Amino acid sequence: MLIFLIGMMGSGKSTFGRKLAKFLQYDFIDVDSYIENKEQLSIAELFEKMGEDAFRKIEHQCLIELAKRTKTIVSTGGGAPCFFNNMQLINASGISVYLKADVAFLASRLKSKKKDRPLISNINDVDLPYFLDEILINREKFYSQAKICIDAKDIKAKDLVELLKLED
Ligand code: S3P
Repeated sequence: MLIFLIGMMGSGKSTFGRKLAKFLQYDFIDVDSYIENKEQLSIAELFEKMGEDAFRKIEHQCLIELAKRTKTIVSTGGGAPCFFNNMQLINASGISVYLKADVAFLASRLKSKKKDRPLISNINDVDLPYFLDEILINREKFYSQAKICIDAKDIKAKDLVELLKLED
């Protein structure tokens, strides 16, 4: 089984993905780290040097590579499902799980973690919820194509495993 975790930055995809991978004894791959290793640049450096369009092309290429894996939990970057045919690719090759979270939850988690995220690194804390709300409105149509939707605030690896059994 190949599982893709999707959802906004700050929804906890990587933390939950690691736990889930441990629980299932699967490999865990964070797409941003995969890109950083491949390009030998941080995500912030990639955005700065090449721009977002080039980053999205690299991200798409990496998803094509990762779509061939099995027994793996793939944590995608927040924007990944929303570019090219990535959501189609994700759904054709694995089980997509959307970690749904509201803007207040995301903003409170992201306040101290803006530095490494180029899309929000220059947004002040007051504007952050409004900015995230705008992004989320645009992205929801992609995220909602996920096979499974879970509440990011209250997820447990065990619960998702139960859900995945039901989905078989
Ligand atoms: C992005 C989210 C980031 C990273 C990049 C762009 C986005 O990943 O891919 O900064 O467009 O939402 P996380 O969701 O892991 O923070």
